[in-house]
Amino acid sequence: MMPRARLCSLCLLTLYLVTGYGQEGKFSGPLRPMTFSIFEGQEPSQIIFQFKVNPPAVSFELTGETNNTFKIEPDGLLYLINPLDRETRSIYNLQVAALDAHGAIVEGPVPITIEVKDINDNRPMFHQPKYEGSVRQNSRPGKPFMYVNATDLDDPATLNGQLFYEIVIQLPKINNVMYFQINNKTGAISLTQEGAQELDPAKNPSYNLVVSVKDMGGQSENSFSDSTSVDITVTENIWKAPEPVEIVENSTDPHPIKITQVQWNDPGAQYSLFEKEKLPRFPFSIDQEGNIYVTQPLDREEKDSYVFYALAKDEHGKPLSYPLEIRVKVKDINDNPPACPSAVTVFEVQENEQLGSSIGTFTAHDMDEENTANSVLGYRIVAQTPQIPLDGLFLVQTYSGVFQLAKRSLKKQDAPQYNLTVEVSDKDFTTLCAVQINVIDINDQIPIFEKSDYGSVTIPEDTKVGSIILTIQATDADEPFTGSSKILYRITEGDSEGRLGVDTDPHTNAGYVTVKKPLDFETAAVSNIVFKAENPEPLVPGVTYNESSFAKFTLIVTDVNEAPLFSQYTFQARVSEDVATGTKLGNVTAKDPEGLDIRYSLRGDTRGWLKIDPVTGEIFSAAPLDREAESVYRVKVVATEVGGSSLSAVSDFHLTLMDVNDNPPRLAKEYTGLFLCHPLSAPGSLIFEATDDDWQSFRGPQFTFSLASESLRKHWEVSKINGTHARLSTKHTSFEERVYDVPIRINDGGRPPLEGTVSLPVTFCTCVEGRCFRPVDRQPGIPTVGMAVGILLTTLLVIGIILAVVFIRMKNKDKDNVPSAQASEVRPLRS
Ligand SMILES: *[C@@H]1O[C@H](CO)[C@@H](O)[C@H](O)[C@H]1NC(C)=O
Ligand SMILES: *[C@@H]1O[C@H](CO)[C@@H](O)[C@H](O)[C@H]1NC(C)=O
Ligand SMILES: *[C@@H]1O[C@H](CO)[C@@H](O)[C@H](O)[C@H]1NC(C)=O
Ligand SMILES: *[C@@H]1O[C@H](CO)[C@@H](O)[C@H](O)[C@H]1NC(C)=O
Ligand SMILES: *[C@@H]1O[C@H](CO)[C@@H](O)[C@H](O)[C@H]1NC(C)=O
Ligand SMILES: *[C@@H]1O[C@H](CO)[C@@H](O)[C@H](O)[C@H]1NC(C)=O
Ligand SMILES: *[C@@H]1O[C@H](CO)[C@@H](O)[C@H](O)[C@H]1NC(C)=O
Ligand SMILES: *[C@@H]1O[C@H](CO)[C@@H](O)[C@H](O)[C@H]1NC(C)=O
Repeated sequence: MMPRARLCSLCLLTLYLVTGYGQEGKFSGPLRPMTFSIFEGQEPSQIIFQFKVNPPAVSFELTGETNNTFKIEPDGLLYLINPLDRETRSIYNLQVAALDAHGAIVEGPVPITIEVKDINDNRPMFHQPKYEGSVRQNSRPGKPFMYVNATDLDDPATLNGQLFYEIVIQLPKINNVMYFQINNKTGAISLTQEGAQELDPAKNPSYNLVVSVKDMGGQSENSFSDSTSVDITVTENIWKAPEPVEIVENSTDPHPIKITQVQWNDPGAQYSLFEKEKLPRFPFSIDQEGNIYVTQPLDREEKDSYVFYALAKDEHGKPLSYPLEIRVKVKDINDNPPACPSAVTVFEVQENEQLGSSIGTFTAHDMDEENTANSVLGYRIVAQTPQIPLDGLFLVQTYSGVFQLAKRSLKKQDAPQYNLTVEVSDKDFTTLCAVQINVIDINDQIPIFEKSDYGSVTIPEDTKVGSIILTIQATDADEPFTGSSKILYRITEGDSEGRLGVDTDPHTNAGYVTVKKPLDFETAAVSNIVFKAENPEPLVPGVTYNESSFAKFTLIVTDVNEAPLFSQYTFQARVSEDVATGTKLGNVTAKDPEGLDIRYSLRGDTRGWLKIDPVTGEIFSAAPLDREAESVYRVKVVATEVGGSSLSAVSDFHLTLMDVNDNPPRLAKEYTGLFLCHPLSAPGSLIFEATDDDWQSFRGPQFTFSLASESLRKHWEVSKINGTHARLSTKHTSFEERVYDVPIRINDGGRPPLEGTVSLPVTFCTCVEGRCFRPVDRQPGIPTVGMAVGILLTTLLVIGIILAVVFIRMKNKDKDNVPSAQASEVRPLRS
């Protein structure tokens, strides 16, 4: 039995390391089923639990898988007597029973389970000290090609058993690039992206890796580790694109024909082909040996090369590697005859082209490969239709296809068109093509009149403008409806005034001679007219118009009685308005084309001012004229032929009347209110204005003013202010209180000068507040307001004078020296 004290001293450590204690207390309690978890590797003699004794029980018994590891004291103390090792045994199933004093079971047995918990007491170990593997160059990156494997006895459910693989060294290592990688959990080794690209057995056939493994997930400093050496051999990749293939087109051998092959590195791969571009047909296949076939004849002219891909897959349909590019070139054979550029090739040649001139280039086409013997073409003319004027007019250059005139220039009259058959040949084939050569007309033909003299045409002089008087005809042998054959007729002689013109019918080239301006027997009764027929296009050099392009006719215009003609549309005259009756004012003249006598008359002389001499056309005044009534007098004059048909013509006569100074000046208005205040305190003056009814220049009238009689000069004076205004002034102040009529002479200074004498009435009157107060006897009738005010003021004045006299009298009683009463007299106001 262990000393109690020692057991207790170990209590704390045990409690720390144990989990999952029972219910009542952590370290002690009654007997019941319990589970304890205990770390392995602990010192022995540690207390696990204290079961409480419950009478009649006096002791306990431990049974089950005690395996010399667990013991129980009679007092219920369960403890460990030997270290635990999880790797040896991880679980113990025990039973505890309570016994009475007789050793009989009174309670239990109850199950007690001991779980051994892991500690990291084992290091990982690789299964092999050295591994060997091999990898194919260009293998897919990340796809494992070998494994390394290590084991750790510790619980894999805890960090203690979790392994972490790592490549520590790669030899050789170029540019510090890792070609290999390892899955840190599974130990699977695969190529990196770089490895998949760079590995090449030709450069370096083998590599050595040092791989380490750590427990604790490799995360703890306390982890254990192991390492191993891995030798890797790099083997050649036979999954390679084959060389490009050439296939001769249009092959007659039985298909399919093997053209190339591909092979995966290992047997059992499944091969397939796919196209880059979707083709209407895909004439290739592959079998499960990787042999590639063409399945039908190819046509280079349809498609001259193919690019497609071969793919290898594993049994699950997963691609084993990248696809391989297969290039096929289709080789040409001469299997296409030359083709004509079009059903008919048309060339045009002008009539006057020189011998040897190039007409055009004929280019046929061959579908076979360019710049090979299969597509080089040769040309030859094999037929010419028509053979007029002879065969072999044209030649073609064998390889360039240039057509030329071989013998002579062409004439459209000979043949307007030639049809040629051209043989086009390549190495093996011959094709016939049609070439048509059109001869183009040039203006080498002149218009020829059907006759050179159209005789004479007689027409009356009043033939209407626009009338057709003759049809003429010339013909031109050049190509119809071109500028070379169209005819323009021109009058070259006999019509300098352009009275006639010729219009051409564009379809028939007929010329219609038409009256363009009025004809006149009197100026041209007979004309010899010459026409020329011309083309709008110039003639080619060497060809000129000759006499056959000219024709003539005689135009005879017959007389027709015509109305007289005035020499002017309007006749004008200017006279002064004051001309004497019977004065000649002007004349009109008219002539009759036939030379008949003329009689003149007036029409519209509404005022009866004029008369006309019927023979001479002179016009006279027949009454006084007045500009102020009619400044321009308009009448019509009529000229009538004597005899014949008495035809007449009408023209205008405009008589402009010029002004004459025939109105004397006068006062501009009636001056009734002019006044001066009486008695005058100083000489006064008044302003008046004159006017005149005659036409005035822009400066206005320039009147001069004077008194009408010498005797007035003692009392009055007139002075001019400007052309229309003057001032009348008094020369003294002693005028009577009455109206003075002052006669004033006004001269208008015109040509001739006219003078008027006017009377200006000036009233001298008593003024009240600047207004003229006229005595009642002079102005009988109702007193005006002014008069009433005057009366009132006069009354107030009288009262004022009386009061003043009384006042002075009272003062005079004091003083002897009395001033004159006149000093206070009120003076009338000045006007
Ligand atoms: C422990 O018990 C098992 C059976 O439970 C037995 O196989 C084993 O030999 C025993 N070990 C010891 C050391 O008693
Ligand atoms: C590693 O070894 C263990 C034990 O030998 C085995 O169970 C496991 O499958 C192996 N792992 C690999 C990837 O070979
Ligand atoms: C282990 O590998 C995984 C991917 O396979 C990675 O995500 C993880 O970071 C790696 N662990 C360490 C510690 O490098
Ligand atoms: C194949 O060649 C023959 C003559 O060799 C020819 O008649 C045929 O048109 C050609 N086929 C193709 C598709 O070019
Ligand atoms: C030329 O051939 C065309 C048909 O292509 C025909 O209409 C024409 O009359 C032929 N000309 C000559 C001159 O044979
Ligand atoms: C004018 O020339 C044509 C040919 O262009 C000819 O036929 C005709 O006789 C000539 N006329 C005269 C009058 O010389
Ligand atoms: C008519 O007047 C013109 C001037 O206008 C003059 O030449 C001609 O002689 C006059 N005729 C008569 C008959 O007076
Ligand atoms: C002439 O003089 C009068 C008075 O001074 C004035 O009213 C008038 O406008 C003048 N006329 C001209 C044309 O100066």
